[in-house]
Amino acid sequence: MKNIDWKNLTFGYVKTDYNIRCYFKDGKWGPLEVSTSETIELHIAATCLHYGQEAFEGMKAYRGKDNKVRLFRWEENWLRLQRSADGILMQRVPKEIFEEGIRKAVELNQEYIPPYGTGGSLYLRPLLIGSGAKVGVSPADEYLFMIFVTPVGPYFKEGFKPVKMQLIRDFDRAAPQGTGSIKVGGNYAASLRAGQRAHKEGFATAIFADAKTKQYIDEAGPANFYGIRDGKYITPDSETILPSITNMSLRELAADMGLIVERRHVALEELATFEEAGACGTAAVISPIGMIQDRDTGAVHQYSKDGEAGPWSKKLYARLTGIQYGEVEDKFNWCTVLF
Ligand SMILES: Cc1ncc(COP(=O)(O)O)c(C=O)c1O
Repeated sequence: MKNIDWKNLTFGYVKTDYNIRCYFKDGKWGPLEVSTSETIELHIAATCLHYGQEAFEGMKAYRGKDNKVRLFRWEENWLRLQRSADGILMQRVPKEIFEEGIRKAVELNQEYIPPYGTGGSLYLRPLLIGSGAKVGVSPADEYLFMIFVTPVGPYFKEGFKPVKMQLIRDFDRAAPQGTGSIKVGGNYAASLRAGQRAHKEGFATAIFADAKTKQYIDEAGPANFYGIRDGKYITPDSETILPSITNMSLRELAADMGLIVERRHVALEELATFEEAGACGTAAVISPIGMIQDRDTGAVHQYSKDGEAGPWSKKLYARLTGIQYGEVEDKFNWCTVLF
């Protein structure tokens, strides 16, 4: 175990010992390579640099109560990477390469997996880039698949506390029929200005209205939105939203816990009707939303008056993190025990 101040780790980059690389060249994937270097050598005309041929994933390995190390629903991340690759015409990464890569990356860096009880985890960042040279706009002939890992601390330093979010209509992160439903870098570049402005104005992040009609709730920053009302878990369906693996899991847990699950267009007016609201994703699992302010109308929707998350958000968070840390039964078989 490395000598790291586990309790004070942030969601930032900490150097680890090894990363994984695999090259697609001459029409085939080569062997997995293990590297100790944090840098890559890249052709100056690589398509990832010019035409945005880049997709990534974010997933975590957790050291459990029984000291075993678990990966959460990794096959879903692989499937999503396939969809991202298809969406911007990159070479798909075969499942065996993805699986061997993530297993190796975790095993080789196991001394960086935060101990159970610190609330931390080992974040895995698989990424796929077009590495072949092109000058005209076209997909590359060569690709590089990489995985690096970095230990991350608990998302909420002061515990599971609601945050403020800002509803906006004057930026779009992705276009309908564009790339919003896949995990490609361009979507994140397009969201940076809205996110930075939200921070400057005192909010954790910006909630986007749908790009086409501005009538429905879209992404909550780099996470999916959900609201709870009248025994229902309600989450937006939209072609510009990234299908979150956390949200998929929360929907299954919500149904299992007796909530009715609705995945549909969610009108902005409904923000006034929710008893609880949250944003969900791998990084935080759930960020409970205490308040949403509409940047255009000034309307304020309050979900937490006492600074605490609502009861359903608390229950869903406890159950999902409990499964990830091996504390509660993994009824749906979501975890893969690595070692
Ligand atoms: C735009 C966006 N939406 C939603 C999510 C949540 O997805 P997941 O639960 O698979 O991490 C993420 C994070 O990966 C994201 O970047």
